[in-house]
Amino acid sequence: MPHAMFRPRRLREKGLLRRLVRETALGVHDLVYPMFAVHGRGVREPIASMPGQFRLSIDELMREAKDVAGLGIPAVLVFGLPDDKDARGSEAYADDGIVQQAVRAVKDTVPDLLVITDVCLCQYTSHGHCGVVEDGTVKNDPSLELIARVAVSQAEAGADMVAPSDMMDGRVGAIREALDEASLVEVPIMAYSAKYASSFYGPFRDAADSTPQFGDRRSYQMDPANATEAMREIALDLDEGADIVMVKPALPYLDVISRAKSEFGVPLAAYSVSGEYAMIKAAGQLGWLDERRAMMEALTAIRRAGADIVITYFAREAARLLADGREV
Ligand code: PBG
Repeated sequence: MPHAMFRPRRLREKGLLRRLVRETALGVHDLVYPMFAVHGRGVREPIASMPGQFRLSIDELMREAKDVAGLGIPAVLVFGLPDDKDARGSEAYADDGIVQQAVRAVKDTVPDLLVITDVCLCQYTSHGHCGVVEDGTVKNDPSLELIARVAVSQAEAGADMVAPSDMMDGRVGAIREALDEASLVEVPIMAYSAKYASSFYGPFRDAADSTPQFGDRRSYQMDPANATEAMREIALDLDEGADIVMVKPALPYLDVISRAKSEFGVPLAAYSVSGEYAMIKAAGQLGWLDERRAMMEALTAIRRAGADIVITYFAREAARLLADGREV
């Protein structure tokens, strides 16, 4: 070999040296943990397609939230399962709705944890769509008023940030206006800006009982084939007042995350969704891959692509490993 050659292996031999030149850091402070709230007491119902995740009644959720904060995870993202569903998803914006109750309980008992709320209608509507249905289609503008009401009622309950996931056009602007009118000018919006119509939401829809009763979500969520359109969606949401933008899912859309970071340079979240979690869990359980290493590799890759914030069902497991400081 020529003697002046760059030998990349020189920096790979020793663990400490590898760590010294590592380009991407995954930290516990980057993580957001999603949780599912249900009515009742003492409920801790396992979600079959998401091993290790549960539907929790508020007492149980408060306990878990304490544990999450204790691990140093800065935020949870709360989803709710209502008692009753109706055509207009009224529990989503009820004062005593499940999410509103959960937010109050966690904010009262776990002060050092941010509570982010998912703003959508699909868990609450009888038809399972994210907006108002008329003549068999999901209507955009009539949905905006309801979606803004959801955000205001969650923020009034004490949510630290609201995260609209419905993908109606104009929702970020409608929410911003409604929050401002309600004197909630300080509550930020994390917009699910580039949310794709993805099969990777399958386990979540089991967990949240939010499968559409007819058709699918392709008339409002994005076509997985499009990346330039995602940039337009992000630009639009920023224009309407989004404080943080999101790409979702994460792993099959790393190129979109990377483009979003380089084109906009604004705080960027990526949601590693239920199907991404389920794949790694399932293969791990079958002994087909090393679950912990696959988890850390996937989360690091999402950060490397450009996400500042990683929303993941692995948050607690990753936090424990990161606290250990050991390489897996
Ligand atoms: C609600 C919503 C969904 C997810 C987050 N918010 C499901 C959907 O759009 O069908 C998916 C999250 C996941 O799969 O982990 N609109």
